[in-house]
Amino acid sequence: MKDNEGKIDLLAIDDLAEKLPALIDWGIRIKNDDEALFDFKPLEGMSIGSIYEKPSTRTRVSFEVGVNRLGGQPITLLSSDIQLGKSETIADTAEVLSRYLDCITYRCFGHADVEELAMNAKIPVINALSDMHHPCQAAADMMTIVENMDRVNGHVAWIGDGNNVLHDLVLGSAIMGYDVKYATPAGFEPDDSVISRAMDIAERTGSTIVGSNDPVEAVSGAGVIYTDVFVSMGEEHMEGKMGSFDGFQVNENLVSNADRDFIFMHCLPAHRGEEVTDKVIDSTNSVVFDQAENRMWAQMSILTYLCNEAAWSTYWELR
Ligand code: CP
Ligand code: NVA
Repeated sequence: MKDNEGKIDLLAIDDLAEKLPALIDWGIRIKNDDEALFDFKPLEGMSIGSIYEKPSTRTRVSFEVGVNRLGGQPITLLSSDIQLGKSETIADTAEVLSRYLDCITYRCFGHADVEELAMNAKIPVINALSDMHHPCQAAADMMTIVENMDRVNGHVAWIGDGNNVLHDLVLGSAIMGYDVKYATPAGFEPDDSVISRAMDIAERTGSTIVGSNDPVEAVSGAGVIYTDVFVSMGEEHMEGKMGSFDGFQVNENLVSNADRDFIFMHCLPAHRGEEVTDKVIDSTNSVVFDQAENRMWAQMSILTYLCNEAAWSTYWELR
């Protein structure tokens, strides 16, 4: 979505709207294009800063390596090392970083913080996970589904917490035209306003979105089964939360209800033995490490599109 500066910020996956399928195809193409990785440097002379207020393995490494492969300079800023959150406001940080950088990625606690950074920055801002959204994950997830199946048999099933990853999975699936059935325990449903946004998109693309508190119902006939940790980063104080997830573990018994060729997905890190068993995550149905790899390719596509749209468009003609 273009803001007043005419830049595109990616705060939730629906900010990419109908451009998402093309961004995914571009990511798949560059992933399979060894030559491009040597001579295509659309971020040459650019610096991409990444602020982290929470830990990260995949997001941090995939952004650093992806920016480097595109010819840019990645700069990682851990919240413990910078002034933000201690002696400087988000708005002032946005102004200052806009004088040095070409794009900022930001992993934060409250979603309002990344919105404020985007509002005050003169350069594109990418949400690298907030409590509400994880668009980079959804882009990689949609890319992984496209790579693995010509069409989704049945639907995309979510089993677990109504969290940030679910929000962008539902929005992304709606854009791609995939049907979704999600099951969460009572009291842990996704945010109403996000589901209503997804429903609006689904109406246009012809997909359906159904929520329930019944994991068996959600998983029955599913072509994709997705889960995530029951307790997210920043929720460690919610001691009693785990107790609400009885029956929501993705195990062999539950997945026996799915389509025969289902794929199992997880954004990782996984808490093995909690939301998923080893037998499922290590099975041949599991594509979790493809998802992790695709973080890098999907983000390379998004970064090129946001920072150098002309090069992003030209690449289609070159290859
Ligand atoms: N999936 C994901 O965002 O992983 P990290 O927390 O390791 O970045
Ligand atoms: N829902 C998880 C996702 C981690 C990638 C969290 O926010 O901690």
